[in-house]
Amino acid sequence: MSGGALRIVPVSLPGRAYDIVIGRGALAGAGARIAALGSVRQAAIVTDAHVGPLHAAALEAELGAAGIRTTRVTVQAGEGSKSYAKFAEVCDALIAARIERKDVVVALGGGVVGDLAGFAAASLLRGVRLVQAPTSLLAQVDSSVGGKTGINSPHGKNLVGAFHQPSLVLADTALIDTLPARERKAGYAEVVKYGLINDAPFFEWCERHGGAVMAGGPELDEAVAASCAAKAGVVTRDEREDGERALLNLGHTFAHAIERIVAYDNARMVHGEAVSIGLALAFRFSQRLGLCPGQDATRVSAHLAAMGMPTRLSDVPGGAGTPEALLEAMAQDKKVAAGKLTFILARGIGQSFIARDVPPDEAKAFLRAEMAGE
Ligand code: GLY
Repeated sequence: MSGGALRIVPVSLPGRAYDIVIGRGALAGAGARIAALGSVRQAAIVTDAHVGPLHAAALEAELGAAGIRTTRVTVQAGEGSKSYAKFAEVCDALIAARIERKDVVVALGGGVVGDLAGFAAASLLRGVRLVQAPTSLLAQVDSSVGGKTGINSPHGKNLVGAFHQPSLVLADTALIDTLPARERKAGYAEVVKYGLINDAPFFEWCERHGGAVMAGGPELDEAVAASCAAKAGVVTRDEREDGERALLNLGHTFAHAIERIVAYDNARMVHGEAVSIGLALAFRFSQRLGLCPGQDATRVSAHLAAMGMPTRLSDVPGGAGTPEALLEAMAQDKKVAAGKLTFILARGIGQSFIARDVPPDEAKAFLRAEMAGE
C-alpha cells in the first residue's frame, strides 16, 4: 500500500465538511486520520466476506497503532446484504461491541457495504460518525461520497435509508488492482457519467485515457479525483437532491429497471453494467426525442463499447424482459414524482438536464424500438 502523493478533495458542506483522500496508500494513513477526527476510542469495521480477509487486518493494525480499539463485523458479499435482516444484524453487532456516540463506523468495502454500514451508522444511537473506505472503483467515484445510505425493500432498490455524510473518505486506489476486470469496468461507467452530465472535456479525456485508467496507471487516481470533485460540487450545492443532484442519476432510471428485471442477480448484471446500458439508452432516447445530436449518442455508446461495456438491452444476459415490464419497473423508482416518470436526458455530451414529465408512451415506444434493434 505504498505510493505517490495523495490527493485531497474537500466536500465543503457547512458544519459537516470532510475530506476525500485519494491515491495509492490512502488507507496506510487511516489510523492518524481517523484519530484526528477527535475522541475516537473504538472503530467498528464493517466489511464483507470477500474484502475483509484481504484488507481488514492491515486497517486494524493501522488503527491499533493510533490507539484506537477495533471490532470487525463481516457480512456476506453481494446486494442481498442490503436487507432489513442484515441491517438489524449489523446494528445489533455494533451495539454488542459497545460503540458509543463519539466512536466511528468504518465501511470497508464496495457500494453494498458502504450503503449498509452507512445506514447503520446513521441509525445507531441516532447517528455515529462514519468513515467510508471504499474498495471498489464504483464506490470510490460515487457511492462513498455524498451521504446516501440505505438498504433495499422487496419493492425496490434503496427505498429505505438516510442521508448521513461521512466524516472522512479514504479511497485507496491500490485496492482497485485486486478487483476482477468486470468490477473495474463497471465502476468506470460512473466515471464516464460525470463527463456526460456537464463536463464534455472530461468525457474527451476519458476517450483518450480510459485504457490507462483501467490499467491502473496514474490516470486512475486522476479519474477518481476528477469524479469525486465533480460529485463533491454537486452534493455541496444540493445535498438532499431537491434539484441538481438528480443529474447524478443519468442512466439510472433505465439501470434500476434493468436490475429489477434481472432480480438483482449480479451473475447476470452488476450495477455499473446496468448504468453503462442506461447511459447509452439515455442518449439514444434523447436523440429519439429530437433533443440530442445522433453523433453524440453514437460517441457515448462507442466509448463504452470500446471499454468492453454493454450498451444495449440485448446485452443483458437472459434478456431485459418486455417494454411493459421495464416501464413497470421504472414506475417503482424513487424518482417517480406525482406518478410521473423523471428521466435525465441530454442536449449533447456534457449537457444533461432533468426531464420531469416524460410521457410513458414515448418511453414505451423507445424501448420497443430498442428491443427490435432499430
Ligand atoms: N449516486 C447518486 C447520488 O449520490 O446522488
